[in-house]
Amino acid sequence: MHAWLVEGKIIPKKRISIIGTGFVGLCTAVGFASKGYDVITSTNDPEKAALIKRGIPPFYESKLKELLQRVVGDGYLRCLTEREEAILNTEITFVTVGTPSQPNGSIDLQFIEKSAYEIAEALQKKIAYHLLVVKSTVIPNTTEKMFRHILEEHSGKRCGQEFGICVNPEFLREGSAIHDTLHPDRIIIGEYDKRSGDTLESLYRGFYGPDLPTILRTNPQTAELIKYANNAFLAMKVSFINSIANLCERIPGADVATVAKGIGLDERVGPLFLRAGLGYGGSCLPKDVKALIAFSRDSGYEPTLIDAIEEVNRVQVYRAVEFTEKLVGDLKEKQIAVLGLAFKPGTDDMREATSTKVVNDLLNKGAKVVVYDPMAIDKAKEIFDDRVSYASSALDCIRNTVCCIVVTEWDEFRNLSAEDFVEHMKEPNVVDGRRIYDPEKFRRSVRLVAVGLGDY
Ligand code: UDX
Repeated sequence: MHAWLVEGKIIPKKRISIIGTGFVGLCTAVGFASKGYDVITSTNDPEKAALIKRGIPPFYESKLKELLQRVVGDGYLRCLTEREEAILNTEITFVTVGTPSQPNGSIDLQFIEKSAYEIAEALQKKIAYHLLVVKSTVIPNTTEKMFRHILEEHSGKRCGQEFGICVNPEFLREGSAIHDTLHPDRIIIGEYDKRSGDTLESLYRGFYGPDLPTILRTNPQTAELIKYANNAFLAMKVSFINSIANLCERIPGADVATVAKGIGLDERVGPLFLRAGLGYGGSCLPKDVKALIAFSRDSGYEPTLIDAIEEVNRVQVYRAVEFTEKLVGDLKEKQIAVLGLAFKPGTDDMREATSTKVVNDLLNKGAKVVVYDPMAIDKAKEIFDDRVSYASSALDCIRNTVCCIVVTEWDEFRNLSAEDFVEHMKEPNVVDGRRIYDPEKFRRSVRLVAVGLGDY
């Protein structure tokens, strides 16, 4: 398993180290290790390292646990708490540390900076060529101006000679990150020089074999921008369809779900990412749109369109409470159910989840809130503490309430019938924030308002 046969040639598998054991780092590590590469992950956090060494992921991601257990058990994946050994014992290092938002929206590069210093120290001792691959999402020029600069200054070595650098953004979605790692739409390689790009391309050629996706090779700053442009474009689709949804609500009989279907059939538009709802959330889209706005302004470009994407998203979430007030009037002391807390189905992640804003908005209006989510209840307890009640099932959540708001489109909620709401609620008022119910069927017995439905 330690070499590939590619076009008749035996190519030894490169040994890989990965700095950062967050969502991207660990999924990438497990992906390579699952195909027989020797992988060393490295984290500064001893508690995280202890879990990974036992094959336990420090966070939830579908299919990650099984795969991590297997590759740790088979000896393909190790976890260390310092960088040097990881770098000295491998040929390629992926940098996957976090790049969170600063209060003004611009990105915080402290972890990239710190890892560059640590890598530089290890490079001083390295004799063989080493390739550094920046997978973290960083604004254009970070790799060239900050990362390469620190590496050269502090290792005494030259990029393009003793070591190489590529920017290689990832496009993993939470909930399907393992699938996305093994079957990406494309691979973007932003290379400092040809040798760097060739080294990374050859790694991926071996890894994907006959399933190799399209590879786009470019310079580092273009690769960095591709990641932001990609996420901003996705966010734009969501804000666009939410704008059309708001318009539909003012046109009796109009339905955004059918509008989305209609425009999605145009090949130039495409059907994906046109589900209207209460806005986009999660750890990437909101952060990346904000960072792109800040970067544009810093670069002297007024980002009118990107600003609008964010503004539409900022206010969209308030529709949930507006709808609720339309159905039940003043919310003071009223018992309201919130179905769904995770920022999307298939995860327990509540970072930038619309549910947090919906719940806070309801509480500010004096409502008594009961919440339920199939996976995110523990996370929710850290956020809301005893300010809300926690239900143990969807039916338990809606019991005796006067209104129910669907915030996340879990299948469990999709499967509820109109009769379930009629039987369990004190008054069957439903706000469908994710368009999961058939209005015609529901309206026979339930008072239903829904995002993008033109007749409430
Ligand atoms: C996203 C990108 O898809 C991924 O390529 C990138 O690497 C990280 O960011 P993720 O955050 O996992 O992935 O979530 P995604 O599935 O893209 O959804 C983001 C948000 O948009 C969610 O809150 C989701 O509910 C919302 N969304 C998505 C909509 O409201 N409507 C849609 O049609 C699609």
